[in-house]
Amino acid sequence: MIIKGATALVTGGNRGLGRAFVEALRGAGCARIYAGARRIDGAAADGVVVPVELDITVPAQVAAAAARCADVNLLINNAGVAGFKPALGAPTMDDARLEIETNYLGTLSMCRAFAPVLKSNGGGTLVNMLSVTSFFNAPMNGSYCASKAAAWSLTKAVRFELRAQGTTVIGVYAGFIDTDMTQGIDGPKSSPVAIAARVIEGIAAGAEDILADQRSRDVFDALRKDDRAFDADMQQVWEKWRRGQGGGKSLSSWPDLFGPSTSSGRSLKARL
Ligand SMILES: NC(=O)c1ccc[n+]([C@@H]2O[C@H](COP(=O)([O-])OP(=O)(O)OC[C@H]3O[C@@H](n4cnc5c(N)ncnc54)[C@H](OP(=O)(O)O)[C@@H]3O)[C@@H](O)[C@H]2O)c1
Repeated sequence: MIIKGATALVTGGNRGLGRAFVEALRGAGCARIYAGARRIDGAAADGVVVPVELDITVPAQVAAAAARCADVNLLINNAGVAGFKPALGAPTMDDARLEIETNYLGTLSMCRAFAPVLKSNGGGTLVNMLSVTSFFNAPMNGSYCASKAAAWSLTKAVRFELRAQGTTVIGVYAGFIDTDMTQGIDGPKSSPVAIAARVIEGIAAGAEDILADQRSRDVFDALRKDDRAFDADMQQVWEKWRRGQGGGKSLSSWPDLFGPSTSSGRSLKARL
């Protein structure tokens, strides 16, 4: 799609990757960018960026945003949470519920509310910010991975349903990004600015899947080559982590989470 002159909405646009998306869209010439945030704290519109109070898990706020932002032709579902807990080892199911409520059901709620908006504005583009962990499960962060796998499947469902109205539906995949979400994790991280730039490039090119960093490209290739070998390596990572942690250690050794060796190489058409 042509981003110059477009009207976008970014959920979780107040910090982290969401803020980088807002600035990248501004740089690419968007005419208006609604920056969704749970707390807008009286932030004023600046001519291009318009703050919108939006908790994606609150149906009334999602409906109000769809009514107010009726000119949107580019939706970026970026808002997300990660509890960094094992599925069974977590003391309660609270993190798992929040991850599903936000990463899956919140994203679904936004897709449902904005599908007619996108249609009435010519089809447009819908982007779901997923994760490299949509492709596999890292048990140290097991319930988050499940929520991102669900969101990946949802992205395909939405793509099927919206193709007839001319909406391009994009999934974005990335490894660690240097935001509040990964504070306390040592190891390689992409900058949010670099990820946002890659996504802008993909939107402009009409890609349906954007492997936004080297980690996601490597993992994607490794899984297609031999997903059982990948999971066998992950089992070892888990056993090592479990022995070392006793369930409660800091996250600093978590780069091991992506420990299974991967190799890059092939890239696919229709993917960036
Ligand atoms: N960081 C990574 O390594 C990484 C890697 C791959 C994918 N991702 C994905 O990228 C997206 C952005 O993550 P990030 O790294 O920027 O995380 P972050 O720094 O923790 O920011 C999360 C953003 O989501 C918002 N949010 C959370 N729950 C919300 C809700 N119910 N309604 C509306 N907004 C909500 C937060 O708003 P508040 O300020 O109100 O909390 C914040 O703006 C997420 O979907 C994440 O899963 C992140």
